[in-house]
Amino acid sequence: MKFGVLGPKESEIGYSTKRILEEAKKEFKEAELIPVIDVRLKADRKGIHAFYGKKALEKYDYIIPRIDSKRAEVGYPVMRFLDHLGVRKPYVAETVIIAHNKFITLEQLAKNGVPIPETYLTSSKESANYIIEKLKLPAVIKLLSGFGGEGVLMIDSKEAFKSIIETMKILKQEMLIEKYVKNPGEDIRGIMAGDEIIASYKRIAAEGERKANIHLGGRSISHKLTPEMEEITFKAGKAIKSKLCAVDMIIGKEGPQVIEVNINFGLKGIEKTTDINIAKRIIEFVKDEVKR
Ligand SMILES: Nc1ncnc2c1ncn2[C@@H]1O[C@H](COP(=O)(O)OP(=O)(O)O)[C@@H](O)[C@H]1O
Ligand SMILES: [Mg+2]
Repeated sequence: MKFGVLGPKESEIGYSTKRILEEAKKEFKEAELIPVIDVRLKADRKGIHAFYGKKALEKYDYIIPRIDSKRAEVGYPVMRFLDHLGVRKPYVAETVIIAHNKFITLEQLAKNGVPIPETYLTSSKESANYIIEKLKLPAVIKLLSGFGGEGVLMIDSKEAFKSIIETMKILKQEMLIEKYVKNPGEDIRGIMAGDEIIASYKRIAAEGERKANIHLGGRSISHKLTPEMEEITFKAGKAIKSKLCAVDMIIGKEGPQVIEVNINFGLKGIEKTTDINIAKRIIEFVKDEVKR
């Protein structure tokens, strides 16, 4: 069994990639990091090939991509090659495009019947004003590729809304405008691998904060998904064409609403919170996939 993680350079790998490789080395004869920038893609009239050093990537039995938004542009063509070469992995090249853009993720979820908050995308001030008349406040404005809660703004007043759209316009940013789901600053994450939920937990926002990100002082506690949430998690994964992802939901009056799907979900702190060896569960999923 030849296993690889397609990720950053050795010196830049984070906790989660390290943990996945650590567990993979216990189970597989060969398990290694394939830095996406070191991959060579070759195309000629006979076809296409991908190499890492002397190794052809089609020789790998399974590859898990850990491509962050910084490397998505380099990673996308590599993923396309792997799709074509038939290398097994948890998702396709298109998933990288879908997952790295919050609005395209929501579009994909909406098309597949996954519950999401009412969401709009626009680039002009005029249409943003029109949207806010329809949507009513409070609302949430998000940058398309933010993470860790940093590109997310909660808007409570028309004045705040006006000054934010002015700034967004200056920055030439597209605006994702979303209905605020009333909740006590909590969100629920379900991590799916194949047909199993391998971990789930709730994040609770810090005092005086409405965003539940750990990055912003939020804390996490173990939390079991209801059958409805499980179904939504699997449906969301399918909608972005991924067998391995973390699905974030907010529980509003109308039930769970998916706000985000993450293909590069982090394990740091969460293995401790849930007391689950998530990296090991991921490797078990890989073993099942290869057996198919
Ligand atoms: N529509 C919404 N209604 C209420 N709270 C929201 C909404 N969208 C996001 N939040 C809160 O803000 C946090 C960050 O939003 P999210 O879209 O997950 O961005 P990020 O990718 O930066 O984590 C969420 O964890 C949630 O607590
Ligand atoms: Mg989030």
